Amino acid sequence: MPRIVRPTAYGLPEVLTVVETPTPHAAADGVVVEVRAAGVNPIDWKLYSGTFHAVEEDLKDAAGITAGMPSIGLECAGVVTEVGADVTGVRVGDEVIVYPVTAAYADYVTAPATSIFSKPASLGWAEAGSLMLAGTTAVHALHAAGVAAGDTVLVHGGSGGVGLMGVQLATAAGATVIATAAERNHALLRELGATPIVYGPGLADRVRAAAPQGVSAAVDFAGTEEALDVSLELVADRTRIASITGSPRRAAAGIKLLGYGPGQDAGAEIRSAARSELIDRAESGALRVVVATTFALAEAAKAHEVGIAGHAPGKLVLIP
Ligand SMILES: NC(=O)c1ccc[n+]([C@@H]2O[C@H](COP(=O)([O-])OP(=O)(O)OC[C@H]3O[C@@H](n4cnc5c(N)ncnc54)[C@H](OP(=O)(O)O)[C@@H]3O)[C@@H](O)[C@H]2O)c1
Repeated sequence: MPRIVRPTAYGLPEVLTVVETPTPHAAADGVVVEVRAAGVNPIDWKLYSGTFHAVEEDLKDAAGITAGMPSIGLECAGVVTEVGADVTGVRVGDEVIVYPVTAAYADYVTAPATSIFSKPASLGWAEAGSLMLAGTTAVHALHAAGVAAGDTVLVHGGSGGVGLMGVQLATAAGATVIATAAERNHALLRELGATPIVYGPGLADRVRAAAPQGVSAAVDFAGTEEALDVSLELVADRTRIASITGSPRRAAAGIKLLGYGPGQDAGAEIRSAARSELIDRAESGALRVVVATTFALAEAAKAHEVGIAGHAPGKLVLIP
């Protein structure tokens, strides 16, 4: 019997349980995919930890939240096993990337055909299954902050899933990138074209030393009070600061809040349009998906414990 990982209650990762479930069938406009890799993202544990209880009712679908206990796993890659009657251009046996989707911590997922993209042969399963959520978020954040050639951009949390995408995409756009990260991740960030600096007390001075020309934009993927304060101190134009996470204090600061909560810009159009471009970049080797660790499906709780600790250098991925 196929397996699926579900939270059985709100709480810590120990609430995650592997249960058996019948093989799903495709809707007329959808497909069934046998999952080979499912990307792990902070939203997965935020969905059952209670973090999103404040999400407004009409935004719940966009955040992947359904009635009752949430389904987790919003991206994956795998092999098509069934194609709905109205779907064209997708065949059984195709290797695909699926995003967005719900309930991807499973052996099989159903997905609308609009979420299906051909997986480049050059991209490994783990990389393909964890490219999209972080990648589309980074594209949205850089767009919101108006990052372009000639900018010097401060990337808070440059070594995380979203950060590593943001660093590479900003560099590719021609920006000079200063990225915060723990020291052990500095070599990787240098390799990807950024100037790494450690976060923590004295951050603003270290950024000034690394970028004497000044910082024209900032994207906050860390969500700390320090990231907010340093961004406000160093970036003159507040509309060029974008944050994807952090305390409500950001709302009053006049910066751009991206995501699915009240007052945030979900960026549906730009994120949707970014998917093909991200795959093309990954296929050509211009964009690297850095996988930190893979876990078996039954180890989802362990993967979440590592994720919640907040220092994995890159993506965590479940391999059913
Ligand atoms: N709004 C949205 O649409 C959206 C989408 C995706 C993600 N998010 C949110 O964005 C955040 C990042 O997601 P992610 O997937 O990139 O997470 P992640 O892979 O866990 O990355 C966490 C990052 O935070 C850094 N970090 C940890 N402690 C820090 C500290 N005290 N000060 C500064 N940086 C620190 C880590 O650096 P080191 O490892 O080097 O210590 C790492 O770069 C999460 O809160 C997630 O929920 C929001």
